[in-house]
Amino acid sequence: MSRTSLSRFLIEQTRSHQTPAELRFLIEVVARACKMINHQVSKGALGGVLGSMGTENVQGEVQKKLDVLSNEILLEANEWGGHLAGMASEEMDQAYQIPGKYPKGSYLLVFDPLDGSSNIDVNVSVGTIFSVLRCPDRNGDEGDLGEEAFLQPGTEQVAAGYAIYGPQTMLVLTLGNGVKGFTLDSEMGSFILTHDNISIPEQTAEFAINMSNQRHWEAPVKRYVDELLQGEEGPLEKNYNMRWVAAMVADVHRILTRGGIFMYPRDAREPEKPGKLRLMYEANPMSFIIEQAGGVSTNGHQRIMDIQPTSLHERVAVFLGSKEEVERITGYHSA
Ligand code: AHG
Ligand code: MN
Ligand code: MN
Ligand code: MN
Repeated sequence: MSRTSLSRFLIEQTRSHQTPAELRFLIEVVARACKMINHQVSKGALGGVLGSMGTENVQGEVQKKLDVLSNEILLEANEWGGHLAGMASEEMDQAYQIPGKYPKGSYLLVFDPLDGSSNIDVNVSVGTIFSVLRCPDRNGDEGDLGEEAFLQPGTEQVAAGYAIYGPQTMLVLTLGNGVKGFTLDSEMGSFILTHDNISIPEQTAEFAINMSNQRHWEAPVKRYVDELLQGEEGPLEKNYNMRWVAAMVADVHRILTRGGIFMYPRDAREPEKPGKLRLMYEANPMSFIIEQAGGVSTNGHQRIMDIQPTSLHERVAVFLGSKEEVERITGYHSA
């Protein structure tokens, strides 16, 4: 059986003029970093990688050792290759500057180095999410790259993807022409194309939300979930199933595989924060993938990828997945 590796897939993309060589190199390097993170994650207690660092990130979350280690792996893998103008991450307060000893490139890389990090110590799936933007023209300015360069709507992404470290390790990628899934062949050390043209069913009977926050939700979310829970006897006239992994990567991966709707609504406890998830390195890349797979992604009011970010660590409410359900709950927000 002839197998298509990620490298071969990317080279063919370049040959057909769909992916510039510099972007191809960038994706290869990110994939290599994900393999290294996978290796660390899989060591678990044997590698001394479980538990917390005792530090907090800019959003006030306690950093796990693997949050910090994965961040360092991605920085080190990407800083020297000459393909990037800068990087930004959930685990860094400010934009990361490419060290002066290395050449700079034309792309920006934004990532959530380890998604679902509350799952690490209990041996449940985690992942890495990334998004690639073009660096705006700096008119010869050689100084430090400010956060403004990164503040581009999701529609400007040239690539997005995630790695999932689960029973299988996979890399799911979009370059803006569909979604491809690659499974890690750990004996060969390469990602192999196993899921060509991933597409999400328009209809679903499965939802994902952290129900423990129900009392803090806004009225449209309460109404929608209440209708889901009524099952066949309710206005939606079908029985729904519920799943919540607490790792967006794993919940989105399930939705790409068999459909569903994922919700992380805004929370009345923190009215100044419109949701928990981060726009730049969680919501935007996942929205790009979901849309490329035929799904829909909104914040209840507008398409997530149309939002103009105003800060690097901006948060957003997220409703994404199968078209029919996401459009229903989005409609409830304007009813
Ligand atoms: P991270 O581990 O990168 O901070 O992200 C966790 C996010 C997301 O992956 C998940 O869907 C959500 O937080 C889970 O939140 P709850 O713990 O509130 O369920
Ligand atoms: Mn976190
Ligand atoms: Mn995350
Ligand atoms: Mn994270």
